[in-house]
Amino acid sequence: MPIERVGVVGFGLMGSGIAQVCAQAGLETVVREVGHEFLDKGFGRVEGSLARIVKAGKMTEDEAKAIRGRMRGTTSLADLAGCDLIIEAVIEKIEAKQEVFGELDRVCAPGTIFASNTSSLTIVEMAATTKRPDRFAGLHFFNPAPVMPLVEIVRAITTSEETIATLRAFVQRLGKTGVVCKDTPGFIVNRLLVPYLLGAIRAFEQGVATVEEIDTAVKLGLRHPMGPFELIDYTGLDINLHVANIFFDEFKDPSMAPPALLKRMVLAGHLGAKTGKGFYDYDEKGQKKSTDRPDR
Ligand code: 3HC
Repeated sequence: MPIERVGVVGFGLMGSGIAQVCAQAGLETVVREVGHEFLDKGFGRVEGSLARIVKAGKMTEDEAKAIRGRMRGTTSLADLAGCDLIIEAVIEKIEAKQEVFGELDRVCAPGTIFASNTSSLTIVEMAATTKRPDRFAGLHFFNPAPVMPLVEIVRAITTSEETIATLRAFVQRLGKTGVVCKDTPGFIVNRLLVPYLLGAIRAFEQGVATVEEIDTAVKLGLRHPMGPFELIDYTGLDINLHVANIFFDEFKDPSMAPPALLKRMVLAGHLGAKTGKGFYDYDEKGQKKSTDRPDR
């Protein structure tokens, strides 16, 4: 069954990027948030991203308008009833996700496929609470979703081959590359990424080098587009701490244990670009400020 109408639940950083990518691929896209202020914020983010693409000469104003026209906001999950695929991108709490899928299970047709964009939770723990565990999978996008070409397609032990085939075709239609992987913590990318990022914090804690020096070493020595501290600030220290806690619970591997500094920075509210302070300082537009911080 080809996917023509997509519902996205959660219009935060990831949800807005995912919804934009779906509308860019020509799909009717309905986004659901809990309040109108969150919908406005999400649409503001989409418009900013589309403006960037137009400015780069990769899209016309008219195309951007048409994309925006394919997106509709709602505060009611019932408005997602006619969708062929629902992608959930709400807070990383299993109870919140199970509640969303429980209600969607009641309102959507039996054929609708459910997918979660979780980066750390177990897909089958959500699938098993619905009446469609065979039509349930993970679709893990990367930030910024309009730019990053990868989507992990996560096969839970209950997911059918037909669902995987439909999702492979869907990801291809988005112009992205899909890789299929098992429903294990962190899937492929975060399983490798998280110990690396935590290792960078530990290296800094142990005085191996400064934040800037470690970032420079990784960017120039490995050709990564961002150093580990820039990436932690970009994705959010709170998100990284949350994921590390989940991984440590699952693997009991010391390389996954959150370093003390990460915990303390989160407690202080230094969450990265979104709060203006993380391993670096940021202006109100989220741009890195050049600062001379003696603590770094
Ligand atoms: N929307 C649209 N276009 C965007 C964009 C957005 N939100 N963000 C960046 N772009 C475009 C820019 O307009 C620019 O386009 P151009 O080449 O046509 O001019 C291009 O992307 C490059 O952007 P910039 O010139 O602003 O800056 P950079 O070259 O530094 O690239 C970056 C920015 C794409 C974010 C790059 O630094 C990068 O790839 N960083 C690594 C990101 C990464 O690793 N993401 C994965 C995080 S892990 C994750 O998401 C998993 C989750 O579970 C936590």
